[in-house]
Amino acid sequence: MTTPVFNPFDPAFRANPYPFYDALRELDPVHVTPFGTIVLTRYDDIAHTLRSNDFSRDIEANANEPTDPLNKAKRDRRRGREGAKSILNLDPPDHTRLRRLVSKAFTPSAIERLRGRVQELVDDVLDQAAARGGMELIDDLAFPIPFQVISDLLAMPTDRAEEMREWSQIITQNLEPTSTLDDLDKSDEVFGLLIPYLLNVIEDRRKHPGDDLLSGLIAVEEDGDVLSLPELISFVVLLYIAGHETTVNLIGNSVNTLLGHPDQLARWHADPSMGSRAVDECLRMDGPVQQTVRVPLVPVTYHGINGPVVAQPGTIVTTVLGAANHDPSVFADPHRLDLGRENANRHLALAAGIHYCLGANLAHLEAEVAVGSLVARFPSMKATGAITWRDRLTIRGVDHLELSF
Ligand code: HEM
Repeated sequence: MTTPVFNPFDPAFRANPYPFYDALRELDPVHVTPFGTIVLTRYDDIAHTLRSNDFSRDIEANANEPTDPLNKAKRDRRRGREGAKSILNLDPPDHTRLRRLVSKAFTPSAIERLRGRVQELVDDVLDQAAARGGMELIDDLAFPIPFQVISDLLAMPTDRAEEMREWSQIITQNLEPTSTLDDLDKSDEVFGLLIPYLLNVIEDRRKHPGDDLLSGLIAVEEDGDVLSLPELISFVVLLYIAGHETTVNLIGNSVNTLLGHPDQLARWHADPSMGSRAVDECLRMDGPVQQTVRVPLVPVTYHGINGPVVAQPGTIVTTVLGAANHDPSVFADPHRLDLGRENANRHLALAAGIHYCLGANLAHLEAEVAVGSLVARFPSMKATGAITWRDRLTIRGVDHLELSF
């Protein structure tokens, strides 16, 4: 067999990346691409990279200058932007300072308090869908629930939900390795609308503070030098977008996975208490974030098939989370959905180390309630018509799935 090429442009890869990950892990687990970047597909390499202090998440500051004109132009444009970097792209000590400000709002006990509200929202959607005999999963359930919940947490108005949904899809398109300068133009346009909108909300909240997360962050910003206004804005944008964009896909992908494994759907229906572990297994099977990147700050040696591969400082290292989650050396029979899998929670779908997803508890709760309630009420639900996927690599998600009960 020849060495597989990591070619995300191949439509078959986009439809189902897991066989490609398997081939790469087996034949070239420390794959050096023609651009000189490194793609990792083994669980241990990825877990080590995400947890190590030898790596930076600040690609803009620490990665080598790109050699191809498109990536060079994208990087120059990003550098020329005003505003602060988000917590996701920061290293300590700035990362530590910002994360400390909000971590209290996302602890398991703080999130557990939202369960009643999430259940109420989900029940309402399912009651309406039951009356109609079915629903479109994404528009009717997967988008509205996380969007309403993050809006509640920040006390953001929800009257522009559809516009926000479109804006956030345009912004997150730039996380894709395949993004173009046109995508950057579109997201600059969106920021031109989103930032004044947020500034308005912030100014209004300064006058009328509440006990929401946004009021809390504004109080910190007003208090002195812990949080600047650009940092506040960038934080709110990330929370707002990360707070719903990915969870939509967790709900969509999980329902799709369950429909393909009716025995497991029946198992969850028979034992509703398995929700939390079931969500971990769904995250492992088909997570919404398939890959992320790091840059080594010192030379780091990986053990490739044909000997050591040294990632020099500045090399972009792509950690394919979806591949780690299907590594047979950690997860037995990895392509089988097993909602009772003992070690399902070792998945890396929410990353690991200091950037481990801040919203992990919230995403878990939302999926547990939304998917769990759907399974509890409609165990014989069926997909009607063709399912469509979003045409993306970093963020993997079902776009459209009609269900009949
Ligand atoms: C299923 C849903 C979700 C998935 C799969 C997901 C995935 C991830 C991943 C993989 C990272 C780390 C990226 C990296 O290390 O490069 C991350 C970070 C983050 N996530 Fe999530 N996320 C989800 C839901 C949420 C929610 C609901 C929120 C907020 C309410 C959120 C907020 C964040 C933030 C703020 C970070 C940056 C943390 C840091 O840099 O310290 N996420 N998420």
